[in-house]
Parts: sequence; C-alpha cells; structure tokens
Amino acid sequence: MANILCIGAGYVGGPTMAVIAQKCPQHRVVVVDINEVRIAAWQSDHLPIYEPGLDDMVRATRNKNLFFSTEVDRHIAEADFIFVSVNTPTKTFGQGAGKAADLQYWEKTARQILRNSTTPKIVVEKSTLPVRTAEAMEHILNSNSDGLYFDVVSNPEFLAEGTAVRDMENPDRVLIGARDTPSGQRAMQAIVDIYSQWVPRERIITTNLWSSELSKLAANAFLAQRISSINAISALCEKTGANVNEVAHAIGMDSRIGPRFLNASVGFGGSCFKKDILNLVYLCEYYGLSEVADYWEQVVKMNEYQEARFVSNMLSAMFNTVAGKRITLFGVAFKANTSDTRESPALAVCRALLEERAEIVITDSHALDNARADLGADARRVTFEPDPYAAAAGAYAIALLTEWSYFAELDYQAIYKSMVKPAFVFDGRNILDHRSLFKMGFDVYAIGKPPLVHF
Ligand code: NAD
Ligand code: UGA
Repeated sequence: MANILCIGAGYVGGPTMAVIAQKCPQHRVVVVDINEVRIAAWQSDHLPIYEPGLDDMVRATRNKNLFFSTEVDRHIAEADFIFVSVNTPTKTFGQGAGKAADLQYWEKTARQILRNSTTPKIVVEKSTLPVRTAEAMEHILNSNSDGLYFDVVSNPEFLAEGTAVRDMENPDRVLIGARDTPSGQRAMQAIVDIYSQWVPRERIITTNLWSSELSKLAANAFLAQRISSINAISALCEKTGANVNEVAHAIGMDSRIGPRFLNASVGFGGSCFKKDILNLVYLCEYYGLSEVADYWEQVVKMNEYQEARFVSNMLSAMFNTVAGKRITLFGVAFKANTSDTRESPALAVCRALLEERAEIVITDSHALDNARADLGADARRVTFEPDPYAAAAGAYAIALLTEWSYFAELDYQAIYKSMVKPAFVFDGRNILDHRSLFKMGFDVYAIGKPPLVHF
C-alpha cells in the first residue's frame, strides 16, 4: 500500500484522485486543501463541482480509501507520493502581469512539503506550469540540510470538464516526464505503475521533464487554435452566405484535419485555454521569440473578437438598442455538463449587455451559483432563474450561450408565445433547430450562418 496525497481539491484534484482511489483500492488517497468550505463540500452529499459520474465514484470510495482533509501538514508527513494540483492563475501584478503564470501558490506548496517531510517523497506536478518549473521545485525541495532527496515528476492532466471521469478512466494518453537519472527513472516507473492499474501501457508516454511540461501548454494551444480557426471562418461565412457547419463537416472529413473540436461558437471559455496560451506567449517572449509569441497570442485575440462580434450582431439585429430590454441568457457555464463559469463567454456577453443597459436574466441547470459569485457587483443587476420558461417569459431575445442538450428540447412554441415580438434567438452554439424556430415566428441568428429573419 502507498500513501498518495493530492494538494488542491479543485476541478482536477477531486476527480483525478477519485478515479485513482477507485482503480487502485490497495492505495490510500488523501486530498487536502486550505479551503475549508471546499473540503466540507467534498465530505458532504453536495460535492463542490458538478461532473457527470463523479457523485457515484466519490460515494463508492470516500472514507474507504479516499479521504478529504484540511490537515495539509500532517498528510504531507505521511505521504509517499504528492500530486500537486493547486491553481496556477495568470499573474495580475508586476513583471509578466496579464500573461505569466502566478506561481506563488506553487512555491508555497513546495516549501510546505519541505517543512513537513521527514522521509523522501516523489512529488508530481499535476498543475499546468511554465516549462522548467520542475527545476525550481527540485531546487527548493532539495535545499534541505537533512539529506532528504525528492524526485519531481511531471504528469500534466488532459481531462476536460464535463467529461472528467470518462477522460480519467479512458485517457487518450497519460504523460509522465522525469529526469534521466536512476532516481528520476525509478520515480517515473512508480507513477507508471499507478496508472497502469487501468490504462493500457502503450497509452502511457514517458518523456523528459521539459517535453512533458511543454506538451501540456502546446496541447491546449492547439485545441484552442482549432476553435479560433473555425470561429474566424464563421465570421467569413456570415458575410458570404456559406454555412460554417457545412464547412466544418467538409474540412473535418480530411483525415489529416479530423472532425472533432470544430464547433464554431460564441468563443471558448474555461479556466485554462486563455491562461495557458498567455503563459506560452510569455515564455516565447522571455526567450526572445516574438514572432512565435504573436502567432499564439492571436488565438486569444480571435476569441475576444468572436465574443465581441456576437454582442455587436445582437445589437444591430435589435435595432441598435437593448437598453431596458429583457434578454435571457440560456446557459452561463463555459460548456455543457459543468457548473464551472470561469472565463465563460456567457459572462463576457452578460457584462457587455449590461453596459448597454439591457435587463439580463440568466438560466442554467447547474451554474447559477458560480455565475452569481463571478459577476460580483454586477450580479445585483441580473436575475437568476433556474426555470428556462420563466426566464424567457417577457423577453425580447434569447441568447443561447452554453450547449446544454436540454436547451434543444424545450417547447419553443410556448416560449415564443410568452416573449415580446419580434422575438429573437441568437444561438451562440448552433444547437437549435433554426429553421423550425424561424417557422414559429422567431428571427434567428446563428454563428456562421445566414440569419433567418422575417423583415
Ligand atoms: P482549482 O482552483 O479548482 O483548484 C485548486 C485548489 O488548490 C483550490 O481549491 C485551492 O484552494 C487549492 N490550493 C491552493 N494553494 C494551496 C495550498 N498551498 N495548499 C492546499 N491547497 C491549495 O483549480 P483546477 O481547475 O483544479 O486546476 C488546478 C491546476 O490544474 C491548474 O494548474 C490548471 O491549469 C490545471 N488543469 C486544470 C484542468 C481543468 O479542467 N480545470 C484540466 C487540466 C489541468
Ligand atoms: C480543455 C482541454 O480540452 C483539456 O484537454 C485540458 O486538460 C483542459 O482544457 C485544461 O487544461 O484545463 P476544458 O476547458 O475543460 O478542457 O473543456 P473543452 O472541452 O476543451 O472546452 C473549452 C471551451 O471551448 C468551452 O468553452 C467549449 O464550449 C469550447 N469549444 C470546444 C468550442 O467552442 N468549440 C469546440 O469545438 C470545442
């Protein structure tokens, strides 16, 4: 039996450790966090995050071989493996502000591990970090005078929210990077042994530390680049009468391009794409690669353009004013099947419409509490309504911003009757049946398609 500790009980720490606990019943897994409210929620019937399949998995393992605690120091002392999964947000101050990763939580964790360790440990970088962060971690940890040696291994996480359990149970690949030293290779093998309990060995890739760290940033940059690319094409479709769904289908059938991750949308959100690309941009600038930095930064700029374009399209369709008009946002989570609203395009659209003095109503099955918290003072000017029918009643327009499947199954005839006419639908995810909405009487604006309007 090994003692596995995860520091950071967030969207990554919670689900990844629940899966490890279930797949490795011989090991004891503890997840610690400084946030007492979060830990209390992990110990309760209302987990702090919504993720399909997670409740059952936590219920099956909690207090058997999966434990949640705020006693960080004690559990560090007992651990053999420490996965570090703390947040690494974009720096908001000083050098690199707005781009570089803020590594203060990371460094505090390293020092806390050092203070509380009396035995050697394998420390696993699970958080997404700038390239060569492992070097800093090794330097801090191995600066002790007790003769303790710590191996630092990189094991970036590739799960996506909304499919976290499925992605962990059946990953495309697991990546483990380590030093090419006997001790580094032993540490790497120990992590391989954990994953190979359920992941086929050929899907576990081992590399050097820096390739592993960089692969994580590069993977997110490539994924986000696909979305910005199709969104750029969507703008051209709207000008030319082409249909972005048809274009995506046609280009995705080329096996070199592939069909996935080509859904044009109001923009990509989530806590990582923007942060990780900006981090990559900062690294390129740091190494004097300004052309490379500009290339990747454009992916983020295109995303901001797409969000702004969506709001401009709404304004011009609604006679250039939304002041005093009730507008209902269908969805505020950054994608379907999650309660997470971090960097959600719906929040950007909400703020822009509030600037225009619209009356905003938001409906979402799981994300209203997070949206209220994220909007801060602006939340006072927004109505949060879980029932989509009540939310849409009396509205001038619906803006669909999260691709929750239940939004496609609503009774739009009834919704149309309850709205102010002309009634507008702006489908920011292209999931609705636009032609049938048009026949009901709606004026329909989708992403990358000619609008269907009655006047
Ligand atoms: P999160 O904010 O949900 O969770 C991080 C947790 O770490 C918080 O609960 C915070 O209280 C805790 N924490 C911070 N400092 C601590 C300390 N010193 N001791 C104990 N706990 C501490 O973040 P997240 O979404 O889980 O992301 C964590 C990391 O994983 C980030 O680097 C992120 O880029 C990366 N990542 C995230 C995802 C995702 O889908 N969210 C996927 C892959 C990788
Ligand atoms: C993303 C990556 O997919 C994960 O592999 C990675 O581990 C994670 O970031 C991370 O490092 O945090 P996530 O942000 O949870 O996962 O969700 P995605 O499915 O990638 O969606 C991101 C955003 O892009 C969402 O707003 C989604 O709606 C949008 N999107 C996605 C599109 O607009 N079009 C698409 O075709 C796909």
